[in-house]
Amino acid sequence: MLFVCLGNICRSPLAEAALRQEAEARGLDLHIDSAGTGDWHIDHPPDRRAQAVAERNGVAIGHLRARQVTAQDFREHDLIVALDGQNLTDLEALRPADASAELVLLLDLVDGRSGQGVKDPYYEDDAAFDESWADVVAGAKAIADRLGKR
Ligand code: 4NP
Repeated sequence: MLFVCLGNICRSPLAEAALRQEAEARGLDLHIDSAGTGDWHIDHPPDRRAQAVAERNGVAIGHLRARQVTAQDFREHDLIVALDGQNLTDLEALRPADASAELVLLLDLVDGRSGQGVKDPYYEDDAAFDESWADVVAGAKAIADRLGKR
C-alpha cells in the first residue's frame, strides 16, 4: 500500500513508519511505501522534525527519500491512502482509468474521525509533529485491524 501527502517529507513517511511498526507487532507481511503529490522535495530525506518524532517513538526514517506519486502507483498498489482531503482530491485527478488500487482518506478508517485530514505540520512547531504521529498511529492501527479481518 501507498501513503500519499503533499511533500512526502512529513506526514506520509510518518504513516509509512507507523504502519511498518504496527505490521511488525502483529506479524502482518505488508509492502508499504509513501509518495507526495508535489515535486518540490524529490530525493530529499524526511523533515528533521519528522525524523525526530519517529525516533522518539522507536522508528528510524532517515533513510527514506521523497518521490512523487505516479499513475503506475495506481496499478501496483492495492490501497492508496491520502493523508488529507486535498491529497485525496489530487489523487482522484491523477487516477488512471485502469487503476486497481482502492483510494481512501486515512482518517475515514478511524472511528469518530471520518472526513478529517492529518493536519500539515510543515509550517508548525514540534507539537504539531506529535499530533501528526498520533493521527498516523491511529490510522495505522485501523488499517492493520481491517487487514487482520480479511
Ligand atoms: P507533507 O508536508 O506533505 O506532510 O510532507 C509538507 C512538506 C513540504 C511542503 C508542504 C507540506 N512544502 O510546501 O514544501
